[in-house]
Amino acid sequence: MMTAPDLPAELKAALDSRLQGLSRSDTATRAAIISKTYRDGGGSGAIKSATDALAYALARMPATYAAVIASLNALCEARPDFAPKNLLDVGAGPGTATWAAAEAFLSLQNFDLVDANTDLRALALDLASSSARLRDINYRRGDARATLADAEAADLVVASYVIGELGDAERSALTDLMWTKTRDTLLIVEPGSPAGYARILALRQQLIAAGAHVAAPCPHDGQCPIQPPDWCHFTQRLPRSQAHKQIKGAELPFEDEKFAYVALARARSVQHSSRVLAQPVVTKIEVTAKLCTADGLVIAKVPRRAKAEYARARRWRWGDAVMEES
Ligand SMILES: C[S@@+](CC[C@H](N)C(=O)[O-])C[C@H]1O[C@@H](n2cnc3c(N)ncnc32)[C@H](O)[C@@H]1O
Repeated sequence: MMTAPDLPAELKAALDSRLQGLSRSDTATRAAIISKTYRDGGGSGAIKSATDALAYALARMPATYAAVIASLNALCEARPDFAPKNLLDVGAGPGTATWAAAEAFLSLQNFDLVDANTDLRALALDLASSSARLRDINYRRGDARATLADAEAADLVVASYVIGELGDAERSALTDLMWTKTRDTLLIVEPGSPAGYARILALRQQLIAAGAHVAAPCPHDGQCPIQPPDWCHFTQRLPRSQAHKQIKGAELPFEDEKFAYVALARARSVQHSSRVLAQPVVTKIEVTAKLCTADGLVIAKVPRRAKAEYARARRWRWGDAVMEES
Protein backbone atom coordinates (compact mmCIF):
# COMPACT_ATOMS: atom_id res chain seq x y z
CA MET A 1 0.00 0.00 0.00
CA MET A 2 1.41 3.36 -1.07
CA THR A 3 1.03 6.31 1.29
CA ALA A 4 -0.13 9.64 -0.19
CA PRO A 5 2.42 12.48 -0.35
CA ASP A 6 0.15 15.18 1.03
CA LEU A 7 0.25 16.14 4.70
CA PRO A 8 -2.17 14.22 6.92
CA ALA A 9 -5.41 16.18 7.57
CA GLU A 10 -4.64 16.54 11.31
CA LEU A 11 -1.22 18.04 10.61
CA LYS A 12 -2.54 20.37 7.89
CA ALA A 13 -5.28 21.61 10.24
CA ALA A 14 -2.80 22.08 13.09
CA LEU A 15 -0.45 24.13 10.89
CA ASP A 16 -3.30 26.22 9.46
CA SER A 17 -4.67 27.01 12.92
CA ARG A 18 -1.22 28.22 14.10
CA LEU A 19 -1.14 30.59 11.15
CA GLN A 20 -4.36 32.29 12.28
CA GLY A 21 -3.63 35.70 13.72
CA LEU A 22 -0.12 35.87 12.23
CA SER A 23 0.71 38.27 9.43
CA ARG A 24 1.06 36.14 6.29
CA SER A 25 3.44 38.61 4.68
CA ASP A 26 5.67 38.67 7.79
CA THR A 27 5.64 34.86 7.90
CA ALA A 28 6.43 34.75 4.16
CA THR A 29 9.38 37.13 4.68
CA ARG A 30 10.75 34.94 7.47
CA ALA A 31 10.30 31.81 5.37
CA ALA A 32 12.17 33.50 2.50
CA ILE A 33 15.09 34.44 4.81
CA ILE A 34 15.28 30.85 6.13
CA SER A 35 15.16 29.42 2.59
CA LYS A 36 17.89 31.80 1.42
CA THR A 37 20.07 30.75 4.36
CA TYR A 38 19.61 27.10 3.28
CA ARG A 39 20.34 27.88 -0.35
CA ASP A 40 23.52 29.73 0.67
CA GLY A 41 24.72 26.63 2.48
CA GLY A 42 23.68 27.71 5.99
CA GLY A 43 21.64 25.49 8.27
CA SER A 44 18.76 25.82 10.70
CA GLY A 45 20.62 28.52 12.63
CA ALA A 46 18.28 31.09 11.03
CA ILE A 47 15.35 29.56 12.98
CA LYS A 48 15.47 31.53 16.22
CA SER A 49 11.87 32.00 17.36
CA ALA A 50 8.47 30.32 17.45
CA THR A 51 7.42 32.34 14.37
CA ASP A 52 10.57 31.31 12.49
CA ALA A 53 9.85 27.67 13.32
CA LEU A 54 6.28 27.99 12.08
CA ALA A 55 7.40 29.81 8.91
CA TYR A 56 9.90 27.02 8.22
CA ALA A 57 7.26 24.34 8.78
CA LEU A 58 4.67 26.07 6.59
CA ALA A 59 7.15 26.59 3.77
CA ARG A 60 9.11 23.33 3.85
CA MET A 61 7.24 20.63 5.77
CA PRO A 62 4.89 19.72 2.86
CA ALA A 63 7.89 19.07 0.59
CA THR A 64 10.18 17.27 3.06
CA TYR A 65 7.18 15.20 4.19
CA ALA A 66 6.45 14.22 0.56
CA ALA A 67 10.11 13.25 -0.01
CA VAL A 68 10.16 11.09 3.14
CA ILE A 69 6.87 9.44 2.14
CA ALA A 70 8.23 8.66 -1.35
CA SER A 71 11.34 7.10 0.24
CA LEU A 72 9.26 5.11 2.74
CA ASN A 73 7.01 3.89 -0.08
CA ALA A 74 10.09 2.57 -1.89
CA LEU A 75 11.28 0.93 1.33
CA CYS A 76 7.87 -0.71 1.92
CA GLU A 77 7.84 -2.02 -1.61
CA ALA A 78 11.32 -3.53 -1.22
CA ARG A 79 10.55 -4.92 2.25
CA PRO A 80 6.80 -5.63 2.39
CA ASP A 81 7.13 -7.53 5.68
CA PHE A 82 8.90 -4.73 7.53
CA ALA A 83 6.73 -3.67 10.49
CA PRO A 84 8.81 -1.44 12.78
CA LYS A 85 7.55 -0.90 16.33
CA ASN A 86 9.79 2.02 17.25
CA LEU A 87 11.21 5.01 15.45
CA LEU A 88 14.19 7.25 16.10
CA ASP A 89 13.94 10.54 14.19
CA VAL A 90 17.35 12.28 14.18
CA GLY A 91 17.35 16.05 13.53
CA ALA A 92 13.56 15.79 13.70
CA GLY A 93 12.84 19.54 13.42
CA PRO A 94 9.06 20.01 13.39
CA GLY A 95 8.58 16.22 13.39
CA THR A 96 8.19 15.77 9.64
CA ALA A 97 9.67 12.27 9.32
CA THR A 98 7.82 11.11 12.43
CA TRP A 99 4.47 12.11 10.91
CA ALA A 100 5.46 10.43 7.65
CA ALA A 101 6.62 7.19 9.29
CA ALA A 102 3.45 7.08 11.43
CA GLU A 103 1.38 7.25 8.23
CA ALA A 104 3.46 4.65 6.38
CA PHE A 105 3.73 2.17 9.29
CA LEU A 106 0.67 1.54 11.42
CA SER A 107 2.90 -0.87 13.38
CA LEU A 108 4.84 2.03 14.96
CA GLN A 109 4.10 2.51 18.65
CA ASN A 110 7.06 4.46 20.07
CA PHE A 111 8.46 7.65 18.65
CA ASP A 112 11.80 9.08 19.83
CA LEU A 113 12.91 12.38 18.33
CA VAL A 114 16.13 14.35 18.74
CA ASP A 115 17.00 17.90 17.66
CA ALA A 116 19.18 20.79 18.80
CA ASN A 117 16.68 23.54 17.97
CA THR A 118 14.44 24.62 20.87
CA ASP A 119 11.82 26.38 18.72
CA LEU A 120 11.42 23.52 16.25
CA ARG A 121 11.11 21.07 19.13
CA ALA A 122 8.41 23.20 20.77
CA LEU A 123 6.50 23.42 17.49
CA ALA A 124 6.82 19.65 16.94
CA LEU A 125 5.37 18.93 20.39
CA ASP A 126 2.56 21.39 19.79
CA LEU A 127 1.69 19.86 16.38
CA ALA A 128 1.93 16.30 17.72
CA SER A 129 -0.55 17.12 20.49
CA SER A 130 -3.27 17.20 17.81
CA SER A 131 -2.66 13.53 16.93
CA ALA A 132 -3.86 10.64 19.11
CA ARG A 133 -0.92 8.52 17.92
CA LEU A 134 1.77 11.16 18.32
CA ARG A 135 0.57 12.85 21.51
CA ASP A 136 3.11 10.92 23.62
CA ILE A 137 6.23 11.30 21.50
CA ASN A 138 9.50 11.50 23.39
CA TYR A 139 11.41 14.49 21.97
CA ARG A 140 14.86 15.23 23.39
CA ARG A 141 16.59 18.52 22.77
CA GLY A 142 20.33 18.42 22.23
CA ASP A 143 23.15 17.83 19.80
CA ALA A 144 22.43 14.65 17.84
CA ARG A 145 25.67 12.85 18.70
CA ALA A 146 25.57 13.64 22.41
CA THR A 147 21.87 12.80 22.68
CA LEU A 148 22.00 9.63 20.60
CA ALA A 149 24.86 8.15 22.57
CA ASP A 150 22.50 6.99 25.33
CA ALA A 151 19.33 6.64 23.21
CA GLU A 152 17.60 3.27 22.82
CA ALA A 153 18.14 1.53 19.47
CA ALA A 154 15.09 1.55 17.18
CA ASP A 155 13.73 -0.68 14.41
CA LEU A 156 13.62 2.32 12.06
CA VAL A 157 16.00 5.29 12.27
CA VAL A 158 15.41 8.30 10.00
CA ALA A 159 17.45 11.45 9.34
CA SER A 160 15.68 13.66 6.83
CA TYR A 161 17.34 16.81 5.45
CA VAL A 162 19.83 16.77 8.35
CA ILE A 163 23.27 15.48 7.41
CA GLY A 164 23.84 18.45 5.09
CA GLU A 165 23.99 20.65 8.18
CA LEU A 166 27.06 18.83 9.51
CA GLY A 167 30.76 19.06 8.69
CA ASP A 168 32.42 15.99 7.12
CA ALA A 169 33.95 14.56 10.32
CA GLU A 170 30.77 15.19 12.31
CA ARG A 171 28.65 13.57 9.58
CA SER A 172 30.83 10.50 9.41
CA ALA A 173 30.77 10.04 13.21
CA LEU A 174 26.99 10.54 13.34
CA THR A 175 26.58 8.01 10.50
CA ASP A 176 28.33 5.32 12.55
CA LEU A 177 26.35 6.24 15.63
CA MET A 178 22.99 6.15 13.80
CA TRP A 179 23.89 2.71 12.45
CA THR A 180 24.66 1.38 15.94
CA LYS A 181 21.19 2.64 16.98
CA THR A 182 19.52 0.89 14.01
CA ARG A 183 17.99 -2.49 14.78
CA ASP A 184 16.65 -2.98 11.26
CA THR A 185 16.65 -0.06 8.81
CA LEU A 186 18.22 3.40 8.54
CA LEU A 187 16.68 5.88 6.10
CA ILE A 188 18.55 9.01 5.04
CA VAL A 189 16.82 11.64 2.88
CA GLU A 190 18.58 14.67 1.41
CA PRO A 191 17.85 17.42 -1.14
CA GLY A 192 18.09 16.02 -4.68
CA SER A 193 21.11 18.16 -5.59
CA PRO A 194 24.54 16.84 -6.64
CA ALA A 195 25.78 17.74 -3.14
CA GLY A 196 22.88 15.91 -1.45
CA TYR A 197 23.57 12.85 -3.61
CA ALA A 198 27.31 13.01 -2.79
CA ARG A 199 26.51 12.90 0.93
CA ILE A 200 24.15 9.95 0.44
CA LEU A 201 26.80 8.16 -1.62
CA ALA A 202 29.51 8.64 1.03
CA LEU A 203 27.21 7.45 3.81
CA ARG A 204 26.10 4.47 1.71
CA GLN A 205 29.73 3.44 1.14
CA GLN A 206 30.64 3.92 4.80
CA LEU A 207 27.80 1.73 6.05
CA ILE A 208 28.07 -1.00 3.39
CA ALA A 209 31.67 -1.34 4.60
CA ALA A 210 30.18 -1.76 8.10
CA GLY A 211 27.88 -4.59 6.90
CA ALA A 212 24.73 -2.71 5.75
CA HIS A 213 22.68 -3.76 2.71
CA VAL A 214 20.77 -1.36 0.46
CA ALA A 215 17.00 -1.89 0.61
CA ALA A 216 16.27 1.05 -1.74
CA PRO A 217 16.79 2.71 -4.16
CA CYS A 218 19.80 0.67 -5.40
CA PRO A 219 19.27 -2.89 -6.67
CA HIS A 220 22.74 -3.87 -5.37
CA ASP A 221 25.33 -3.12 -2.68
CA GLY A 222 28.08 -2.50 -5.23
CA GLN A 223 29.66 0.74 -6.35
CA CYS A 224 27.22 3.34 -7.70
CA PRO A 225 27.51 3.19 -11.53
CA ILE A 226 26.48 6.84 -12.03
CA GLN A 227 29.25 9.09 -13.27
CA PRO A 228 29.40 12.88 -12.73
CA PRO A 229 28.01 15.27 -13.87
CA ASP A 230 25.01 12.90 -13.57
CA TRP A 231 23.65 12.16 -10.09
CA CYS A 232 21.01 9.87 -8.61
CA HIS A 233 17.89 11.72 -7.49
CA PHE A 234 14.14 11.52 -7.66
CA THR A 235 11.20 13.88 -7.69
CA GLN A 236 7.89 13.94 -5.86
CA ARG A 237 4.95 16.14 -6.81
CA LEU A 238 2.91 17.54 -3.92
CA PRO A 239 -0.15 19.74 -3.73
CA ARG A 240 0.21 23.29 -2.40
CA SER A 241 -2.49 24.59 -0.06
CA GLN A 242 -3.61 28.22 -0.17
CA ALA A 243 -1.48 29.04 2.89
CA HIS A 244 1.52 27.20 1.42
CA LYS A 245 1.22 29.23 -1.81
CA GLN A 246 1.02 32.50 0.11
CA ILE A 247 3.99 31.71 2.34
CA LYS A 248 6.09 30.75 -0.69
CA GLY A 249 4.76 33.56 -2.89
CA ALA A 250 3.94 30.87 -5.45
CA GLU A 251 1.19 30.62 -8.06
CA LEU A 252 1.20 26.95 -9.05
CA PRO A 253 -1.10 24.63 -7.04
CA PHE A 254 1.70 22.03 -6.78
CA GLU A 255 5.44 21.77 -6.45
CA ASP A 256 8.00 19.14 -7.40
CA GLU A 257 10.48 18.28 -4.66
CA LYS A 258 13.76 16.81 -5.82
CA PHE A 259 15.31 14.46 -3.29
CA ALA A 260 17.96 11.75 -2.87
CA TYR A 261 17.73 8.92 -0.39
CA VAL A 262 19.08 5.60 0.77
CA ALA A 263 17.49 2.97 3.00
CA LEU A 264 20.09 0.65 4.54
CA ALA A 265 19.08 -2.55 6.30
CA ARG A 266 20.80 -5.14 8.45
CA ALA A 267 19.35 -7.94 6.27
CA ARG A 268 19.87 -8.33 2.53
CA SER A 269 16.68 -7.70 0.49
CA VAL A 270 15.33 -10.72 -1.33
CA GLN A 271 14.01 -8.78 -4.33
CA HIS A 272 16.37 -6.87 -6.56
CA SER A 273 14.19 -4.84 -8.88
CA SER A 274 15.77 -2.31 -11.19
CA ARG A 275 15.19 1.37 -10.44
CA VAL A 276 13.91 3.90 -12.98
CA LEU A 277 16.33 6.85 -12.80
CA ALA A 278 14.55 9.45 -14.98
CA GLN A 279 11.12 9.90 -16.51
CA PRO A 280 10.97 7.35 -19.38
CA VAL A 281 10.40 8.62 -22.90
CA VAL A 282 7.35 7.02 -24.52
CA THR A 283 6.89 7.12 -28.30
CA LYS A 284 4.72 5.11 -30.64
CA ILE A 285 7.78 3.05 -31.52
CA GLU A 286 9.26 2.27 -28.11
CA VAL A 287 9.69 3.15 -24.46
CA THR A 288 13.18 4.31 -23.55
CA ALA A 289 14.05 4.16 -19.86
CA LYS A 290 17.20 4.77 -17.85
CA LEU A 291 17.47 1.94 -15.33
CA CYS A 292 19.85 1.12 -12.51
CA THR A 293 20.07 -2.68 -12.57
CA ALA A 294 21.99 -5.25 -10.54
CA ASP A 295 24.52 -5.19 -13.42
CA GLY A 296 24.86 -1.43 -13.73
CA LEU A 297 23.23 1.37 -15.70
CA VAL A 298 21.13 0.37 -18.70
CA ILE A 299 19.19 2.38 -21.25
CA ALA A 300 16.32 -0.04 -21.81
CA LYS A 301 14.39 0.12 -25.08
CA VAL A 302 11.08 -1.69 -25.08
CA PRO A 303 9.65 -1.87 -28.63
CA ARG A 304 5.93 -1.55 -29.27
CA ARG A 305 5.89 -4.90 -31.00
CA ALA A 306 6.63 -6.56 -27.63
CA LYS A 307 3.02 -5.81 -26.72
CA ALA A 308 2.76 -6.87 -23.07
CA GLU A 309 6.21 -5.51 -22.12
CA TYR A 310 5.54 -2.23 -23.93
CA ALA A 311 2.18 -1.83 -22.15
CA ARG A 312 3.93 -2.39 -18.80
CA ALA A 313 6.88 -0.10 -19.60
CA ARG A 314 4.49 2.72 -20.62
CA ARG A 315 3.41 2.88 -16.98
CA TRP A 316 6.95 3.16 -15.57
CA ARG A 317 7.57 6.35 -13.64
CA TRP A 318 10.78 7.95 -12.42
CA GLY A 319 11.66 6.31 -9.08
CA ASP A 320 9.70 3.09 -9.67
CA ALA A 321 11.15 -0.32 -8.91
CA VAL A 322 10.57 -2.45 -12.00
CA MET A 323 11.19 -6.00 -13.07
CA GLU A 324 12.65 -6.21 -16.57
CA GLU A 325 11.87 -8.96 -19.02
CA SER A 326 15.03 -10.77 -20.03
C1 LIG B 1 16.41 21.13 7.48
S1 LIG B 1 15.90 20.70 9.09
C2 LIG B 1 15.03 19.16 8.78
C3 LIG B 1 14.04 18.87 9.83
C4 LIG B 1 13.22 17.61 9.61
N1 LIG B 1 14.02 16.42 9.71
C5 LIG B 1 12.51 17.67 8.29
O1 LIG B 1 12.75 16.80 7.44
O2 LIG B 1 11.69 18.56 8.08
C6 LIG B 1 17.41 20.15 9.83
C7 LIG B 1 17.27 19.86 11.31
O3 LIG B 1 18.46 19.25 11.78
C8 LIG B 1 18.73 19.79 13.07
N2 LIG B 1 20.16 19.63 13.34
C9 LIG B 1 21.20 20.04 12.58
N3 LIG B 1 22.36 19.70 13.15
C10 LIG B 1 22.05 19.07 14.31
C11 LIG B 1 22.83 18.48 15.35
N4 LIG B 1 24.17 18.47 15.31
N5 LIG B 1 22.18 17.92 16.38
C12 LIG B 1 20.82 17.92 16.43
N6 LIG B 1 20.04 18.45 15.50
C13 LIG B 1 20.64 19.03 14.43
C14 LIG B 1 18.29 21.23 12.97
O4 LIG B 1 18.08 21.81 14.24
C15 LIG B 1 17.00 21.10 12.14
O5 LIG B 1 15.89 20.90 12.93
